[in-house]
Amino acid sequence: MRLMNRNEFRFAFQTLPFLDSHEGDPAGVLELRARPTPRLLVWHPEGIDWIFRTDRQLHHVPSRTLRPLVGRTSLLGTEGLRHAAYRRVLGPALSGHQLRIYHNIISHTVHAAIDMLPPGAIISLIEWTRKITLYVISQIVLGHVDDVLLALFSARVDSVLGSRSRTLAYRYLPAQALSIYTRRSALRGRHELDDMVLRSAKATATTQPAALAARLLAGEQPLGVLDNEKLRDQVMSLLFAGHETSASTAAWILYWLSRDEKIYRDVIAELSATSNDGSDPTQVPLLHAVIHEALRLSPPAIFAGKRMLPADGELLGKSLPAGTILTPCMYLAHHQPDLFPQPRRFNPTRFLGHRVPRQYYFPFGGGTRRCLGSELAMVQVRMIAAAVLRRCQLHCVNPEAGVSELRGPAMTLARSLRMSITPHRRAPRKIPL
Ligand code: HEM
Repeated sequence: MRLMNRNEFRFAFQTLPFLDSHEGDPAGVLELRARPTPRLLVWHPEGIDWIFRTDRQLHHVPSRTLRPLVGRTSLLGTEGLRHAAYRRVLGPALSGHQLRIYHNIISHTVHAAIDMLPPGAIISLIEWTRKITLYVISQIVLGHVDDVLLALFSARVDSVLGSRSRTLAYRYLPAQALSIYTRRSALRGRHELDDMVLRSAKATATTQPAALAARLLAGEQPLGVLDNEKLRDQVMSLLFAGHETSASTAAWILYWLSRDEKIYRDVIAELSATSNDGSDPTQVPLLHAVIHEALRLSPPAIFAGKRMLPADGELLGKSLPAGTILTPCMYLAHHQPDLFPQPRRFNPTRFLGHRVPRQYYFPFGGGTRRCLGSELAMVQVRMIAAAVLRRCQLHCVNPEAGVSELRGPAMTLARSLRMSITPHRRAPRKIPL
């Protein structure tokens, strides 16, 4: 096994402090290693623009950390025609007018979660929002909620991503050692979950044609018929990608608002002036800006997927050999003080009334791999926040725990952050089912 250099070591074992030590570095590129082939973190706007514009010609390196969870055939790790086929089948169901059919699901799920809170409940905020977003994506992918399946799924996510040492083992162990390690550790209970996922997805195909699992199973070209492994991997990928990052964003918003009285009051005033449930961003521009600010300050994905140069090339005037790996880093891009003055300050007004160009702000990545669920994520988080803020009083019990925590490649609000959420209003009289 190759020894790590100092940068690689710090990147692996002290990821956030290491990134923080490069905050504001105008170079916008950091070499993590030079040999055998270079690996660079990139956040310079010109570099980011080049990567996303050239994306079609770059290779995409699957995440080793996610593989034990999403499998080897996941759309998150495929390339070329197969990848395009997955996007063609799933993309239309996750954008534009199609999203309207999910409004009821989101509304019903969040109001039910609030109704179940006992008065004065003190909860782990991220665990609560994770449950809400997992219930939502389960209904979108599988057409229903199966508590046993979701409990097994969450246990599996925790087992794969909940331990930093395991994440590092997945990322750095050589292939043979890794296969022994995974057989021994994280994969217990895998078959039971796999069977349930497959059974559930296939049942959905006959009963709920609009569910994403049913679309995957329609057998239409260019995707064709999926075998069990491919079906399982796509369902696991959608359940994971569709809930973890949205949960993190919702939790950060509620946390920031509970800490900033003025913006909190302004958002409440905005919500009081409209009957919109948050689904329409034009009715709640400040809340929409709050979400962008949370995605800027604490991007749930601190990196986009790795890109690899297929041939010798050049980035920002530097020659690079074929095989060079480029990792776009939103965490550092979003903390650049020239574009975001006082980058550590929560200030949603930065996003009021204007769009920040994608090379400076890209929480959903970009190019050919840009997040397929970005529109769903935004509408979902707005609706969750609108319902909670309208109906509940928030009080953060231990604000000092409002720090970031890594879960595999994702960054979330620390599990130990506790919020008292007290419902003071009843659910809207008619919750559409
Ligand atoms: C705030 C919430 C979310 C954030 C911040 C986020 C972020 C990201 C990022 C950074 C990528 C990689 C893009 C790249 O490498 O350039 C990605 C990919 C993806 N996301 Fe999201 N995501 C979110 C919510 C969702 C939701 C709700 C879904 C719903 C299914 C979803 C599905 C996907 C899929 C399928 C991909 C893979 C796209 C591909 O490889 O072609 N995401 N997301």
